[in-house]
Amino acid sequence: MKVVNIGTGYVGLNTAAALAWIGHDVACVDIDESKINSLKNGVVPIREEGLDDLIKNTKIKFTTDLAEVINDAEVIFIAVGTPSLPNGHANLDYVHNAANSIGNLINPTHDVTIIVKSTVPIGVNSSIEDSIRNQVKLNNLDDSLLHFASNPEFLREGCALSDTLYPDRIVIGTNDNTAFEMMSKLYAPLVDQTFTIPDSVQPPKDRPKTYILHTNQASAEMIKYSSNVFLALKISYINEISSLCERLGADVDDVAKGMGLDHRIAPYFLNSGLGWGGSCFPKDTLALLQIAKDMQCDTPIIQAAWYVNEAQIDKVINKLKYEFYELHDLNVTLFGLTFKPNTDDVRNSPAVSLARQLIELGVHVTFTDPVGLPNARKVYADEPFEFEDDPIKASLDSDCIILTTEWKQFKSLDYKAVASNMRHKFMIDARHCLDPKYINDVGIKYIKL
Ligand code: UGA
Repeated sequence: MKVVNIGTGYVGLNTAAALAWIGHDVACVDIDESKINSLKNGVVPIREEGLDDLIKNTKIKFTTDLAEVINDAEVIFIAVGTPSLPNGHANLDYVHNAANSIGNLINPTHDVTIIVKSTVPIGVNSSIEDSIRNQVKLNNLDDSLLHFASNPEFLREGCALSDTLYPDRIVIGTNDNTAFEMMSKLYAPLVDQTFTIPDSVQPPKDRPKTYILHTNQASAEMIKYSSNVFLALKISYINEISSLCERLGADVDDVAKGMGLDHRIAPYFLNSGLGWGGSCFPKDTLALLQIAKDMQCDTPIIQAAWYVNEAQIDKVINKLKYEFYELHDLNVTLFGLTFKPNTDDVRNSPAVSLARQLIELGVHVTFTDPVGLPNARKVYADEPFEFEDDPIKASLDSDCIILTTEWKQFKSLDYKAVASNMRHKFMIDARHCLDPKYINDVGIKYIKL
């Protein structure tokens, strides 16, 4: 099918690459000229396993000119960002701009389905449909060949293509049968797994068959928010249990394992530690809290998930105070800056929130990270952080190492060399990923968050 995808962020680019790989004719549109130019030259602006490979081996057209591609399209995706506004609501400017451009430029001569993939509050799909239809009618054109659907995405950074090519579920929110049929056709190669498996993106073992869930638009929008916020609160729950475990002599990692063996609970998103960050969980949790507030609906569980997550940073600081009492002039090395491993995304990282609070207390903070530092040096150029690529050098004169992102490079590091560089040999493992015995054996006092 002929697909136009508006937006070349994580969601847009990975969706476009996956759809092109499974055989569709895809054009990607973005207003950011420099991004489009680099994509045209084969330079992919984000780091994602297999993405370079798929883009190189497909024929995606990259353009800043929606007019050039819109009227051939059978399917148009809106996959632009919806970042948080200062009041917590999702900023819908990019979504509305994309919808306005579609409304102004489209001249429907065949069935076209317009799909919102961006994460938008409940009701926004319906208002986008109204605004595009109104614009088309204002242009004296017939809107009867236009169809609309909400199709939230569930991909994770770091395994975005795997999540897109081998999804657990595809949610299609529409009351329009033509839209549902067109989307079923679009996704059929994924559901039936009839495409050639790319060498760089192998399917996960024992994956269940993809489930297509057909709902109305509002339910699809709600599935997206409630899934993300549920995962966030699952993490906050284990972090709260962790505080109790510590006081009661239980080991939270054993407790999480024991819980996860119950198939109703499942082991995922039960890793206790510094808490959740990134560009999705904080934004979507805040947005859902605002949506609930607007509806005058109490959401104490969601509020608690947020509160517990913020408190994880205080827990680290309390542990430092317990060890050092006075934090002023302490040298602290943070092992990990990205919000999770296997990504170079440094936005909304809990490690950065921690670093800012430490600096307010007079601590000198040095970051080391195997992948995130080039981005961090740009994004955090104005902040008083030190950056050092080599973790062993980053440990020089350090009073404390805090492991903030569970990169495999940190798991296999020579901690004897790290220890010999440290001024005070103390470590807080805020991601529970190191062997306490090994760290203690090299002479570093080890505690878990
Ligand atoms: C998340 C969701 O997992 C995706 O399904 C969703 O599509 C995406 O948001 C989105 O809305 O775009 P992502 O933000 O890439 O994906 O990252 P996750 O792997 O979910 O991790 C989020 C945060 O939770 C990270 O900071 C991670 O360190 C933390 N986390 C995760 C824990 O602290 N413990 C865990 O057990 C798991």
